Amino acid sequence: MNKTSISAKAKKATLFDENTEFKPSKEFSKNAHIKSMAQYKRMHKESIDQPDKFWAREANELTWQKKWDNVLEWKAPDAKWFKGAKLNICENCVDRHVEAGRGNKAAIIWEGEPGDKRVITYRQLLRDVSRFANALIAEGVKPKDRVLIYMPMTPEASIAMLACARIGAVHSVVFGGFSAESIKDRLEDSEAVAVITCDGGWRRGGTVELKANVDAALKGNKTVKTVIVQKRIGNDVTMKKGRDKWWEDVIADAPAVHKPKGFNSEHPLFILYTSGSTGKPKGILHTTGGYMVGTYTTAKYIFDLKEDDVYWCTADVGWITGHSYITYGPLLNGVTQIMYEGAPNYPEWNRFWSIIEEYGVSIFYTAPTAIRAFIKAGDEHVDKHDLSSLRLLGTVGEPINPAAWLWYYEKIGGGKCPIVDTWWQTETGAVMITPLPGCTPIKPGTATLPFFGVDAAILDEDSNVCKPNVPGKLVIRKPWPSMLRNIYGDKKRYKDTYWGDYKGMYTAGDGARMDKKGNIYIVGRLDDVLNVSGHRLGTAEVESSLVAHKAVAEAAVVAKPHEVKGEAIVCFVTLKSNVKPTDKLKIELRNHVGKIIGAIAKPDAIHFAPALPKTRSGKIMRRLLKELVKTGQVTGNVSTLEDSKVITDLQKSIKE
Ligand code: WT7
Repeated sequence: MNKTSISAKAKKATLFDENTEFKPSKEFSKNAHIKSMAQYKRMHKESIDQPDKFWAREANELTWQKKWDNVLEWKAPDAKWFKGAKLNICENCVDRHVEAGRGNKAAIIWEGEPGDKRVITYRQLLRDVSRFANALIAEGVKPKDRVLIYMPMTPEASIAMLACARIGAVHSVVFGGFSAESIKDRLEDSEAVAVITCDGGWRRGGTVELKANVDAALKGNKTVKTVIVQKRIGNDVTMKKGRDKWWEDVIADAPAVHKPKGFNSEHPLFILYTSGSTGKPKGILHTTGGYMVGTYTTAKYIFDLKEDDVYWCTADVGWITGHSYITYGPLLNGVTQIMYEGAPNYPEWNRFWSIIEEYGVSIFYTAPTAIRAFIKAGDEHVDKHDLSSLRLLGTVGEPINPAAWLWYYEKIGGGKCPIVDTWWQTETGAVMITPLPGCTPIKPGTATLPFFGVDAAILDEDSNVCKPNVPGKLVIRKPWPSMLRNIYGDKKRYKDTYWGDYKGMYTAGDGARMDKKGNIYIVGRLDDVLNVSGHRLGTAEVESSLVAHKAVAEAAVVAKPHEVKGEAIVCFVTLKSNVKPTDKLKIELRNHVGKIIGAIAKPDAIHFAPALPKTRSGKIMRRLLKELVKTGQVTGNVSTLEDSKVITDLQKSIKE
């Protein structure tokens, strides 16, 4: 049973006492991969001083068709990991386990939102992936061709990714909540030759028209030759002759055996688009060998994976978390994992807890925003379930506030499960800063210490290391295996964005501070990137979608702290002179942003303002807007403001 009361220790921690630490039980440590801080320190030191030795040992646990000549070749900002090696990452995720006798072990236990269930063993996964790989080849997909995947959370989403990897094609997964317009941009940027999608998906009892969005995105497209459609919800869809084919049909004639060819270690594996500080999302490029070793090693040590674990990561494959800790990391480790298709509150707020109880989930990895939503929904949804199978919890995507952390620790973990608060990014490919559950003392609000091979530091503007607890820029001073290699087709932006601040070092774009013990506290983004429910969105993206509307002259977007989402999107909009500011228009603009970017980007508030606060040189002073939405006032320095009346007008606008 879960403890309902918060222990004395947890109570103390609510007072933000940074000295209150939670340690794993002796039992947990004894059985963990990393059992003591001494072991962590020894291995971390080795990973920094002798990275070749450290990473070669990890890599040797995997299957390589040809071994590497060099572990690392580094000429900032270009890294080549395991150069000279040949491997197939799909073979490592699937074939390797069948050969090792895990053929009848469940690889994916899947639950659809309406309640349908499937279990896919490693042997079945091998057949499914091989069939689909053969089908892709038959459709003319070649190594290095880009394939866009726009799927709900069905096993076929992972199967499609693995099949692409198996034949050396580059997948680019687009989250199912993105709009047709977003798919179109990504198709154009990646020049994809094929799209894999579903007729539709289930969401909160309703349906999402995935195929219709793909159809709209393909208008005028010249590169896509094939669209493969999985039948999921049975809605009416248009199938264009010669181009569109049903998944079921293309696999019907495809052989169930496919020999995995070895690809170069630096062969491109996938592109995943993420928001930056301009209106154009960046296609983050990851390659094969280093990403494989990075996701394998992090998943093994951070989730402390064992043969009998039932692992569940609640992310969507459309995000990096779903790539690294649903499709690749867990399967590389041969673990059994749960995959769930739908919403956490469908049909009731207990859906997650009922899944944990039913399948005996032992490791559970989710986002702080979900935890806050569960707290709000009420403890009664948790209380009716037996969660005693859990032994380890994790969070990802945003800083977790102490109250949410403590609830998670006590209510879900029963006060006995370590929580790994994992900091990383689309760009880093794998977790970078995290506790190791068997040894690291944990406390609310900190992702604690760097993972093996990660040389993290917090620097000031003059490249000095910040003193304890002084916030600065989070940087990584050494290359790591799963690091990004490029922004697809834009080396200059890659160099400028990530390697331009400090020579030879990666700038994460996050502010952070380090306490005296070396624990890292992430403060948040330093650039104009929002974190809404753990999803990354650029203010510039939302702004450019707003100004694309005929009524809008100018727009500025800022984040406002939000109880559940972490950050909410607040827009200040100046209308064209002939347009009337009405509530109806606010709704229209909100839907317009949803249509251009996707439902996740729909603003929480839109304020009409006669003018935006600008400097004399015409730059929007976002700092003032941020302060205004947070406190309702502007107290900071406004001497550079071009027209001070703007502020009083804005104050009025946020009250309307
Ligand atoms: C940004 C990266 C990593 C997968 C999900 C998000 C924020 C991520 C944490 C954490 C505080 C975090 C950072 C980072 N972030 N994890 N544990 N604590 N902040 O991937 O979309 O690439 O976003 O998410 O600000 O830069 P992403």
